[in-house]
Amino acid sequence: MKLAVVGGGSTYTPELVDGFARLREVLPIDELALIDPATERLELVGGLARRIFARQGHPGTVTTTADLDAGVDGADAVLLQLRVGGQAAREQDETWPLECGCVGQETTGAGGLAKALRTVPVVLDIAERVRRANPGAWIIDFTNPVGIVTRALLDAGHKAVGLCNVAIGFQRKFAALLDVAPHEVHLEHVGLNHLTWELGVRLGGPEGTDVLPKLLAEHGEAVAGDLRLPRALVDRLGVVPSYYLRYYYAHDEVVSAQRGKPTRAREVAALERRLLEMYADPSLDTKPELLARRGGAYYSEAAVDLAASLLREGGSTHQAVNTLNRGTLPFLPDEAVIETQARIGRDGAHPLPVPALDPQFTGLIAHVTAYEELALRAALHGGRDRVFRALLAHPLVGQFGYAEELTDQLLAHNEEHLAWA
Ligand code: G6P
Ligand code: MN
Repeated sequence: MKLAVVGGGSTYTPELVDGFARLREVLPIDELALIDPATERLELVGGLARRIFARQGHPGTVTTTADLDAGVDGADAVLLQLRVGGQAAREQDETWPLECGCVGQETTGAGGLAKALRTVPVVLDIAERVRRANPGAWIIDFTNPVGIVTRALLDAGHKAVGLCNVAIGFQRKFAALLDVAPHEVHLEHVGLNHLTWELGVRLGGPEGTDVLPKLLAEHGEAVAGDLRLPRALVDRLGVVPSYYLRYYYAHDEVVSAQRGKPTRAREVAALERRLLEMYADPSLDTKPELLARRGGAYYSEAAVDLAASLLREGGSTHQAVNTLNRGTLPFLPDEAVIETQARIGRDGAHPLPVPALDPQFTGLIAHVTAYEELALRAALHGGRDRVFRALLAHPLVGQFGYAEELTDQLLAHNEEHLAWA
C-alpha cells in the first residue's frame, strides 16, 4: 500500500508518521511519499520520518519529492495537508479582520474566506493530477477550510472525504473523564466542519447508553473550561459545542482578547522554527513533546482509521467525517457538505441518521452552509462582488459597511495568491 502526503514537509508530519508507525497492523504501508515544494524543509521532516519508522521497526520506506505527479503515482490514498502562503498568509487572515471588529481566525469569519479563496483552486488542481495518475485513489482532505474544500472536491467528482481532529479530540477527552477506552465512546457529533456540537456520548456504539448528562453533571467544569466557554452556557445548551463555537458564542470577547495579543500564526511560526531545529538532529527518532503545542493532537489516529476503512477489505467503521449531506440534515441541500458520524467502507462515507435538531442549531448550520456555498462560488469564479456576497452572508459579518470594508482588505492582502484579483 502506498500513501502520499501533499504538504509532507509540514512540521505536523512527524505526528502522522508516528501514528503510521504505531498503527502499522491497522494500516500496513509499504511506501509513504512525502511531497512538498519546500525541499529543504521536506528533507528535514523526511529524515526524521525515516528515523521514526526505523526506530519502531516499520518495514515501509519513506520517499520525499517536490514532484507532485511522481509522488502521487501509484498511491492508494493521498492526504492533503497544505497551507497556501504558509504562516505568513495565515498571519494576515488573523489580523485585518480585527480592524473591522471581526474575529481574526484562519478558518472562521473573513480570514477563513481568504483561506478558502487561496486554497480551493490549488487543491482542485492537485486533485485533478491525482485523478489522472491514479483514478481509483482516495483523497483525504485535512486542508482547511475543510468543509468548503471537501465540497469543492466532491462537486468536481473526486473520491474525497474531509477530516478534522475535533471529534477524535472530544472522544479521547471524554474517554479519559469517563475512565473508559476511547473506542468505547461513540459521539453524536453533528454540524459543519469547525461548527459542530456533541449531542450525545454513547457507550459502546450508536445504540449504547447516552452518558452526556452524567458527563456534564460530573465534569461540566472541566469540559467548559477546556472550551473556554462559561459552564452556564454548556449546561443550558445541554450539548457540547466545539471550541470553534467560541468564535460565535463569545465573539466580541475573543476580538478584544485577540487585539492585545500576537497572532496564533506568529506563535506557530516560532514553534515551527524550534521544531525544525530539533528535526535536524540526527539522533532524534521520535516525535518531540513540543509538537503537542500545535493543534493537531490525534490527527494521525483519525487519518489511520479513515484510510484503513477506505482501503482495507472488511475495515468498515464509524467515524466523524466531512461528506455529502444527502438528506441527513433535512433542512440543508443534499449536496451540502456536513461533518457527522458516518459508516466508512471501501465505497466511501455514509452518514448515520441524525435525530431532528433544535432550531438552536439548525439556524446557525443553515446560515453558515449558505455562506460556504457563496464562498465556494467566489473561490471558483473570483470577482469582488462574489467575495462581498459571501461576507455579507456570513453570520459574523452581516452588515453592508463591514462586508465592503472586509472585501477591500481581503483583496488587498491576497492579491499575490488570487489569479483573478
Ligand atoms: C485543530 C483544527 C485544525 C487546525 C489546527 C490548528 O487541529 O482542527 O483544523 O488546522 O487546530 O492548529 P495550529 O497549531 O496550526 O494553530
Ligand atoms: Mn479542523
